[in-house]
Amino acid sequence: MLIKTIPGWSLPERKATPENVFWNRREFSKRAATGAILGATGIGFGENLYVSKGWGAEDPLADLFPASRNKRYVLDRPLTPKHLVTTYNNFFEFGSHKNVWKSAMQLPLRPWQLRFDGLVEKPITLDVDALIRKMALEERLLRHRCVEAWSIAVPWTGFPLKSLVDIARPLSGAKYLKMTGFNMPEIAKGQRQTWLPWPYVEGLTVEEAVNELTMIVVGAYGQPLPHQNGAPLRLIVPWKYGFKSIKSIQRFTFTHERPVSFWQEIASKEYGFWANVNPQVPHPRWSQATEKVLGTNERVPTQIYNGYGEFVAHLYEGLEDENLYM
Ligand code: MTE
Repeated sequence: MLIKTIPGWSLPERKATPENVFWNRREFSKRAATGAILGATGIGFGENLYVSKGWGAEDPLADLFPASRNKRYVLDRPLTPKHLVTTYNNFFEFGSHKNVWKSAMQLPLRPWQLRFDGLVEKPITLDVDALIRKMALEERLLRHRCVEAWSIAVPWTGFPLKSLVDIARPLSGAKYLKMTGFNMPEIAKGQRQTWLPWPYVEGLTVEEAVNELTMIVVGAYGQPLPHQNGAPLRLIVPWKYGFKSIKSIQRFTFTHERPVSFWQEIASKEYGFWANVNPQVPHPRWSQATEKVLGTNERVPTQIYNGYGEFVAHLYEGLEDENLYM
């Protein structure tokens, strides 16, 4: 099933809430004031660092870093060295190989507007910096398991997606949240491959979107997010295969119809809507029983829900007839 995409930002101006009105009428949580500057930030992992131009001190959000660590999320393995996480990437907008970091740096990150629309009380467009500055940023150490059977462990900085859902105020008929990336074929050469269904799209149920583990990420290793990892903001859903964690999001659309993701549209027999990690359900072309840990190259057993079952397994009760693991 193909979802007919609403033409880009087709909402008449008069129907949109002006940004200043929006900010004035709401109370937002303040940035975590206590312990905002912690020594334990993640800076210092993998010291032979690659630091991209445009990432670091000159980033407009640099003063928000480092954020304090949320100790609720603990790892069972060392963090992956930063230089690997920032130079071994999947970002198909810039090519179908891992070495995309240089090309990804061409992506203009400002101005960057975020659109909230579909089944919401009132569609709005917000500036990314104004929005992020209203959020209580925190650092979480999380595992990330790619469907290709490699994994990383990263200190991400961000906030729960639930905070954005609260801002958007979805209507009761909204069952799904569709997230859409950018479409800039003049800059992103992968997007010149017109047989691919650009822009990149991903989706969650609203229950998944408001789950405490679901994170919008704006930084990594105690610094603003590098282009190649999905700046200025991306999703992280660590219990699902990595392709669900859409990068460089521009639009959040609430809908009653299950969104068809980028990969589902390309190969629906291999990539589904749910894509929850499960070592016992192989990909049609390879086993998912183990994963290669980037950095050590050790092969370790993959865990159900990537080890996050305590947070998310309840979301799937009663859905056993669905293809939950592809
Ligand atoms: N988001 C966009 N927009 N484009 C992509 O190609 N690749 C996905 C996901 N998000 C992808 C994306 C895949 S397959 C993975 S494994 C992760 O991003 C990789 O994230 P990383 O490069 O930060 O490790």
